[in-house]
Amino acid sequence: MTKNKNNQAIWNTRIKKKTSKLFEKIGSSIDIDKRLYKEDIAGSIVHVEMLFKQKIITFKIKNKIIYGLQKIEKEISRNKFEYNKKYEDIHMNIEKKLFQIIGEEAGYIHTARSRNDQVITDLKIWIKSATQEINIYLDKIIKSTIKIAEKNIETVMPGFTHLKNAQPISLGHYFMAYVEMFKRDKRRFINNFESLNESPLGVAALTGTSFNIDRNYTAKKLGFSNPTNNSIDTVSDRDFVLDFLFSISVCSMHISRIAEELIIWNSDGFNLIHLSDKVVTGSSIMPQKKNPDLIEFLRGKTGTTFGNLFSMLTILKGLPLSYFKDMQDDKEIVFKSYDTLINCLKIFNEILKNITPNKKKMYELADSGFITATDLADYLVKNHSMSFRKAYKKTAEIVNFAENKKKKLTELKIEELKKIEPKLTNDVLKVFDIKNSINSKKSYGGTSFENIKKMIMKYKRNK
Ligand code: ARG
Repeated sequence: MTKNKNNQAIWNTRIKKKTSKLFEKIGSSIDIDKRLYKEDIAGSIVHVEMLFKQKIITFKIKNKIIYGLQKIEKEISRNKFEYNKKYEDIHMNIEKKLFQIIGEEAGYIHTARSRNDQVITDLKIWIKSATQEINIYLDKIIKSTIKIAEKNIETVMPGFTHLKNAQPISLGHYFMAYVEMFKRDKRRFINNFESLNESPLGVAALTGTSFNIDRNYTAKKLGFSNPTNNSIDTVSDRDFVLDFLFSISVCSMHISRIAEELIIWNSDGFNLIHLSDKVVTGSSIMPQKKNPDLIEFLRGKTGTTFGNLFSMLTILKGLPLSYFKDMQDDKEIVFKSYDTLINCLKIFNEILKNITPNKKKMYELADSGFITATDLADYLVKNHSMSFRKAYKKTAEIVNFAENKKKKLTELKIEELKKIEPKLTNDVLKVFDIKNSINSKKSYGGTSFENIKKMIMKYKRNK
């Protein structure tokens, strides 16, 4: 930066000594908040337009400032801008540069505003577009998940509770469960728009201003729906940051759950899925290994996203109103969580395209652990007018019998079954069939092939 009298802190008339070098280096946030340059310039342009509209600054000054700001934006986007830690943050770096470009009239830009409202205006605009970006990736994930579900409507696998065989399900149904989660994630992000759509600009440091500003005008021009209602709350509020971090945490938690399942299914013990070589890595010592590192990466990243949510909650806990430097960390946290989630979404989409179910193994596993016992109990209720509890007990006796004989339910003879429940007829044998079991779960939301097909069609139609 060229040497001139502006090459000094804005407050140098009041604060005589230069800021300690150490503080300048550590307290400066420019390396992080430079990511907000576009939002900051957009906010400043609308702000000076409003100042002119309200006759607070002249036409000439407004135009000069806008000219300077646009020049700065070009410089930054072309990587020609030299940031200076001495000016702390993106707001001061831009203001200082404006002085260099247009001279003393740059001094009008900060009329009726403070960095306190400026920074949250920038951050809200940034989070709004980040939210849209995340939702684009979530749409891709939903599409890929539906695709793999559609290919596996009739792929049979054991449904687990406690990771023990529970009842047979369709692999398609399992994937569609995650579609529900990702759809909820989308909605959770969209719900945040309500508070993100309130414009902070114009509350100044904490009190509002004596200038006759038009906050509705700046709000509308910047894409907000209305201005915030209380100046003190506005500069103190970071709830919108928490909402964003929470939504990211929940989404990354969903990804970590499916990641964990895929890791288990890919283990040699389960061997239910195969991962293509594209998404595994080798070992430095064990030549035979193909490890699901990328999926583990997904599972692990909840550490970052949850941690960031807790960092922000902790920063805000007990913090008096209104602005404190403590809050400056919000941006580093938000950017880190966002980058982490975007990476996870990209990787997860790639993983989905590189999984092949081991259908034979899935079926074999589903065909063990007396997995259709509940179907037998249901059958007894429906066909032999038993209460469910009585049918449950009878079925447990039959399972005990099969276990003692080291037989599967499908291997039991009708004569053996009759010894335990004389009313039984040949007809009962079909309830042990796994596919029959899956297909019988026709209640809304259940795992029958027909249900899944319908749900997939529905989601493909209206997204
Ligand atoms: N860089 C600051 C932050 O991100 C901007 C607000 C500074 N306000 C102040 N009163 N020091 O929080």
